[in-house]
Amino acid sequence: PSFWCVIPAAGVGSRMQADRPKQYLRVGEKTILEHSLDCFLDHPKLLGVVVSLSETDPYWPHLACSHDRRIRRAPGGLERAHSVLNALLVLEYSGAAAEDWVLVHDAARPNLARVDLDRLLSVLADDPVGGLLAVPARDTLKQAGADGRVEATLDRSVIWQAYTPQMFRLKVLRQALQQALAVGYLVTDEASAMEWAGFAPRLIEGRADNLKVTRPEDLLWLSHLQSCSQA
Ligand code: CTP
Ligand code: MG
Repeated sequence: PSFWCVIPAAGVGSRMQADRPKQYLRVGEKTILEHSLDCFLDHPKLLGVVVSLSETDPYWPHLACSHDRRIRRAPGGLERAHSVLNALLVLEYSGAAAEDWVLVHDAARPNLARVDLDRLLSVLADDPVGGLLAVPARDTLKQAGADGRVEATLDRSVIWQAYTPQMFRLKVLRQALQQALAVGYLVTDEASAMEWAGFAPRLIEGRADNLKVTRPEDLLWLSHLQSCSQA
C-alpha cells in the first residue's frame, strides 16, 4: 500500500482571536500551516498531500507551497470531520487504493518531530486497524460536578491525550467518517469515527511538544520552541 497525508486547514481559529485563521500566522520564517506540512513533504514514503481549505481562503495562494505539485486541494467542510472526509474523497477520485494508508494531521500542529512520524509509520506498518500519536495524561484529573466542585479523581494511568497524525486505511476511514457523521455521532478525531465503527485504534506514545496551537498564549510557547530548535 501507498501512504498519503491529509491536512485539514479549513478552520477559522475562533479561540485564537487573531486577524486571520491561526494556520496562517507566522512563526519564524513560515506560517503555522507550512511548518505542519514540512515533515510530510520531506518524507520519502509519502506520495502526496491533500489540504482541505475554505473555499474563500485568500491566504493559501500566497504560500510558496501552493504551487507544489505533491499537494492537492479539497473543499473545507462545516466541522473538521467534514473537511477530512472531503480530502479522502479527493484521494479516492484521484486513484488512491482502498487499502492505502492515510495520515491525517492538524494544520494547527506545527511541531511534529520526524522521529514521531517515523515511529507511527513503523509501529503501524503491519497493523490491521491503524492508530494515532498520543500522550499519557500528566496531571491529576478531576471530574467536575454541575456546581463546579470536584466529584471524583480519575485514574490517570488509563487516560491519554489524542494527538495527530492519526493513521488509517483510506476506505475504512472514509466509510467510518461518512457513517458516523450520517447518524449525528460527535466525531472529534479520526480515531473516534473508527471506534464508533467498532475498531480499536492503537495508541503510540509521541512527544508532548507536538501541541495544537489553540489559544493566543500558545504562540509564545511555539516561538520559543522554534528559536530553541534553531539554536
Ligand atoms: N478544521 C478544518 N475544518 C473545520 C474546522 C477545523 O479543517 N471546519 C481544521 C483546523 O484548520 C485545524 C484542525 O482542524 O487545523 C483542528 O481544529 P481546531 O484546532 O479546532 O481549529 P479551528 O476550528 O480553526 O479553531 P477554533 O475551534 O478555535 O475555531
Ligand atoms: Mg475547531
